[in-house]
Amino acid sequence: MQANTIRILALCGSLRPNSSNHALIQFISANAPAVVACTLFEGIDCLPHFNPDLDILDADKAVKHLRDAISQADGVIVCTPEYAFGVPGSLKNALDWTVYSGSLHGKPAAIITASSSGEKAHTALLHIFTALGASVASGAALLVPYIRTKVNNQGEVTDEATRQALLRVMDALLGEINKEQPNP
Ligand SMILES: Cc1cc2nc3c(=O)[nH]c(=O)nc-3n(C[C@H](O)[C@H](O)[C@H](O)COP(=O)(O)O)c2cc1C
Repeated sequence: MQANTIRILALCGSLRPNSSNHALIQFISANAPAVVACTLFEGIDCLPHFNPDLDILDADKAVKHLRDAISQADGVIVCTPEYAFGVPGSLKNALDWTVYSGSLHGKPAAIITASSSGEKAHTALLHIFTALGASVASGAALLVPYIRTKVNNQGEVTDEATRQALLRVMDALLGEINKEQPNP
């Protein structure tokens, strides 16, 4: 990885192998500027259930892995469906593990909710990222309803408006990162 590489960590709220949210992350990764390295965080389902009494720094290997991955990233993208009008438990669990460590505090972040509807989870995520102190730029939050009609069985994003909207989210996230780390 080159010194000027911009590292983006993606957290996916769906654990399904053929997840449409995963497909959106792959689209963003494939269409990002060459200077961007976008990595999917793979360990979200390996985290223990959040317990504030166990929430000490470096207490758990999987938790440390998550916190280190976030700390080493220049920016974070969350891409998630809505389950039962809320944020998927696995994703919320991961985010809860970052409260005490402050890993997301001041971190440029983008929030994409791609679901059948998704409005409630999207609103909740915006509140959660405010609580975590992340920097969600204007333009870096996107709700994609009717997601199953916009991604095909091969995991390709087929809806042109969605493709353009995803590129704009990436632009907004990169703008926020550059604001935090201005060129010398
Ligand atoms: C248990 C369950 C609950 C769901 N609840 C909602 C919901 O409340 N709102 C919504 O918009 N979609 C809901 N959905 C539909 C998901 O948005 C849809 O399955 C989406 O494609 C999942 O994202 P993925 O393809 O990335 O896994 C639910 C799906 C499941 C399996």
